[in-house]
Amino acid sequence: MTASSKEAITVEVHLAAGGAAMAHEVRLGLTAKSKELPPKYFYDERGSQLFERITELPEYYPTRAEREILTNRSPEIVAAAGEPGTLVELGSGSAAKTRHLLSAMREVGCLETYVPVDISEEITYETAEALIEEYPGLTVRGLVCDFEHDLERISSEGGGRLIAFLGGTIGNLYPDARRRFLSRLAGLLEPEDRILLGTDLIKDRARLEMAYDDSAGVTAEFNKNVLLVLNRELGADFDPGGFQHVARYDAEEAWMDIRLRSLVDQSIRIDGLDLTVRFAAGEEMRTEISSKFTRERLEEIYAEAGLEMSGWFTDSADDYALSLASKA
Ligand code: AVJ
Repeated sequence: MTASSKEAITVEVHLAAGGAAMAHEVRLGLTAKSKELPPKYFYDERGSQLFERITELPEYYPTRAEREILTNRSPEIVAAAGEPGTLVELGSGSAAKTRHLLSAMREVGCLETYVPVDISEEITYETAEALIEEYPGLTVRGLVCDFEHDLERISSEGGGRLIAFLGGTIGNLYPDARRRFLSRLAGLLEPEDRILLGTDLIKDRARLEMAYDDSAGVTAEFNKNVLLVLNRELGADFDPGGFQHVARYDAEEAWMDIRLRSLVDQSIRIDGLDLTVRFAAGEEMRTEISSKFTRERLEEIYAEAGLEMSGWFTDSADDYALSLASKA
């Protein structure tokens, strides 16, 4: 761990020695009967830029819908959350949307501390520095870690917190992992704490599939970028041109099922794993799921994790929801 501070900023870094976890996960995924890669490896520098472009696509509504809710309803959200002194944000990134919440907290005089939690040390610092300029008197206590592993680190704060997990990222977790994650989060909550969770909602198949297979091909590039990450990080020799982007809505599971389909019979060498993997022509490898929800389903999901929904905020088109929850 390293810690440093400047004025009102502290940033703690808790990152495991890189690479080992990735090698293990990728080996498991590529040697499974149904091949699969974890979505978190999309987000190297190029992948993060491609995702930024996705959020601006006409077909990709979730980011705009979430922004609409935060722009219009942050004062209500802060009031319903009991005017918390601390905002914890899981996956804070550049905190673009967070400013609506921070401003609403400042407006009612409850704002004291912002805790951004992100795996990028650089972005966490930049964000922290920008925010203490914009919000005089604000204390920023950044945590650089993989919050899926290090969730317990957020527990060092006192009560009266709003713990935001925005962007719909929870949709990337399989139901089991989601249940474990929310149960752990529930275990860290004080009675007065609230969770603010962003979730995409079920809608017609055509709109969902267009949102994940845009006409400009940005999502296809984003999907194939994971192959370039493996080439660089694990010494693989994937040719992205040998794969096709596939995005289908699975109504049974209520998730977008995002895959790469091998266009030809091919063998991929992964030097860093000392592994050769065969793909048959037409074989599909899952790279991401993105779950879609209803209000009723989320109420059940919260209840299973020992949580209780206490607020529900949607955009004007009812495409996306921010929900509040507390310990049941
Ligand atoms: C960042 C996980 C919320 O699931 O909508 C966008 C990622 N993948 N297009 C999503 C994504 C393809 C996105 N999340």
